[in-house]
Amino acid sequence: MPGSTANPFRIKSPQLLVAQSGGDLEGHGLRRHMGLFQLICFGVGAIVGTGIFVGLSDSVAQAGPAVVVSFVLAALTCVLTAFAFAELGGAIPVSGSSYSFAYAGLGERVAFLVGWCLLLEYGVSVSAVAVGWSQYVNELLRYLLGLQLPAELSAGPGDGGVINLPAVIVIALASLLLVRGVRESARATAAMAVLKLAVLVAFCAIAFTAFRHGRLTPFAPAGLGGIGAGTTAAFFSYIGFDAITTAGEEAKNPRRNIPIAILVCIGLVTLLYCTVAIAAIGAVGGAEVGGRSAALSHVVDRVTGSAVGGGVIAFGAVVAIASVVLAVMYGQTRILMSMSRDGLIPRVFERVSPKTSTPVTGTLITAVVFAVPAAFSSLDAVVNLCTIGTLATMAVVNIAVIALRRREPGLARSFRVPLYPVVPLLGVGFCSYLMYETGWTTWVQFAAFLTIGCLVYAAYGRRNSRLVNDAVTPDATAVEARAV
Ligand code: ALA
Repeated sequence: MPGSTANPFRIKSPQLLVAQSGGDLEGHGLRRHMGLFQLICFGVGAIVGTGIFVGLSDSVAQAGPAVVVSFVLAALTCVLTAFAFAELGGAIPVSGSSYSFAYAGLGERVAFLVGWCLLLEYGVSVSAVAVGWSQYVNELLRYLLGLQLPAELSAGPGDGGVINLPAVIVIALASLLLVRGVRESARATAAMAVLKLAVLVAFCAIAFTAFRHGRLTPFAPAGLGGIGAGTTAAFFSYIGFDAITTAGEEAKNPRRNIPIAILVCIGLVTLLYCTVAIAAIGAVGGAEVGGRSAALSHVVDRVTGSAVGGGVIAFGAVVAIASVVLAVMYGQTRILMSMSRDGLIPRVFERVSPKTSTPVTGTLITAVVFAVPAAFSSLDAVVNLCTIGTLATMAVVNIAVIALRRREPGLARSFRVPLYPVVPLLGVGFCSYLMYETGWTTWVQFAAFLTIGCLVYAAYGRRNSRLVNDAVTPDATAVEARAV
């Protein structure tokens, strides 16, 4: 049992991870065709959605105009960790994202728990974001036709309905696109990313025509506490930037393009969020933005004095949020594929259809499983859990950078975290602070979730782990893996 004796922490070397994915060639039937532009669109597709269209009003309600500081602090947390993702995504270009990085840096147990937490970041957020989509579909119907779906069919029991059908439908549509093939999915994602950026830029252009400096004061009505709470709320808007690393096996020249795409996405999105927040508050004041549903539509309606602009914004939100569902679901299927390939979860998730070159069965199972909470839960119920799970995986990725620099100093790195080890340590610090800010209820839920994860690992993952075949050379393992 070389995997458990010679290698007590069951660490999987970066070389083995890359070899098992097919090296820099094409692994497991996935095709390398996503260039830099497509990767950036994919990142924007995964990031910009519910957080800015729905969550902005919550962050403003907490922090007031100082929400800009909250956005910058949330962005700083992401940028610090983005450096870590960039270094590891460039050095280990495989589909598993933080899960694979943890496997290489900290071993199988931590990797399993990271993969488990990614179910919160990806899977649960698919459900949550789909619920947000449903709200905007109703908003759009109101603008277009003056009618709304009955509450029974457009909200879960927690929100006064019976079943949230639009949320289920958007997950079904996303899964069909993903099953058809990533080429079609990438095209759809790119088109949606460009459209939603255009809608937000148009929003800013309209809102700035009514901008008054005086509306930005008092700048921080709830003080530092409000800014801290606003930062935790704003963080949700950045979740998804790491999804770019899940395209490691489908990206062209991943060692160069993945680091660039991550950093460009974070910079672009931060600029966009801060500009949207300043434009919105400067146009109508923080009190009118905070706590209001469909706040961006409302701002445009107020500024233009007509419902047409608000309708266009609602349309943009429907498109934006749908693309988040698509991109995040894509990421979830690729992470499950990596975990399955490692034997930690059933092997059905790693099977790639020779016809479509996509993991058809894994995608359909993922869609069915996460459509259930989408049908029956509310956005607020899961956002904090999603946030704490994401922050935990980000903290681990920073630690993995440090562990791998020590253990694998000679590993080919196309990008290196600057000011090492200060930057990854700051990354851990920022993530820990925001985790603390989510509150004790979330911590209790998170602890319960992790406990279940430990049990699943003990009962299934540890026994079925394929790392016990670690003695096999990377090349031989790659050959065997390709034959699956
Ligand atoms: N960042 C993603 C969104 O805002 C989760 O929808």
